[in-house]
Amino acid sequence: MNLDFSQLGPYIPFLLQGIWITLKFVFVSILIGLILGTLLALCKITRHSILTWFANAYTSIFRGTPLILQLMIIFYAIPQLTGYDIPTFLAAILAFGLNSAAYVSEIIRAGIMAVDKGQVEAAEALGIPYRPMMLNIILPQAVKNILPALMNEFITLTKESAVVSTIGYLDLMRRAQIIGAQLYRNFEPLLVAGLIYWVMVVILTKLGSILERRLRASD
Ligand code: ARG
Repeated sequence: MNLDFSQLGPYIPFLLQGIWITLKFVFVSILIGLILGTLLALCKITRHSILTWFANAYTSIFRGTPLILQLMIIFYAIPQLTGYDIPTFLAAILAFGLNSAAYVSEIIRAGIMAVDKGQVEAAEALGIPYRPMMLNIILPQAVKNILPALMNEFITLTKESAVVSTIGYLDLMRRAQIIGAQLYRNFEPLLVAGLIYWVMVVILTKLGSILERRLRASD
């Protein structure tokens, strides 16, 4: 076997910087996905049929086409249509945030549906308006039930983030490829990048289980 990590040394800082670059855009994408996904979930359960129709169409489109295609369309279509040369970071968070919202909306919708109907009835009987009822009573209960599903989504986004290397965003994956090309050795940098992705997911999983335990303790 021919494995040689010795030449990798000078490139390690360059590779490690990719962790922060990757984390930064995954974090922003998760936030966009959570906020937009919650709004879409609320649209799906309301009695206004236009909102429901819109949210369902949104989910159908963003879940029904490849993420890499959505990323490419945002990255190439916006400059073509508007003349605005969109930065890779912006294209990345838009594609990932919009895509994740479709998945998150289904997770949250399921979570809301799973909250006992009596909770809504009790809140309505007490005359609690819609907003505080949703924010303070229904959503907190829903979040507890859907935490594992949400963690799954965050893990998917973290790994799927490697796709942004295709538009030249200097994330972890792209950096591993660049180092591979410089050294004429691809396996070693890819192996290190793989290890870093795995560690990031393990830490995320750990944080998820800590949060889950905390929430259960409050029962
Ligand atoms: N590779 C899948 C696609 O292209 C991943 C989609 C992202 N998944 C997610 N849960 N946000 O459709």
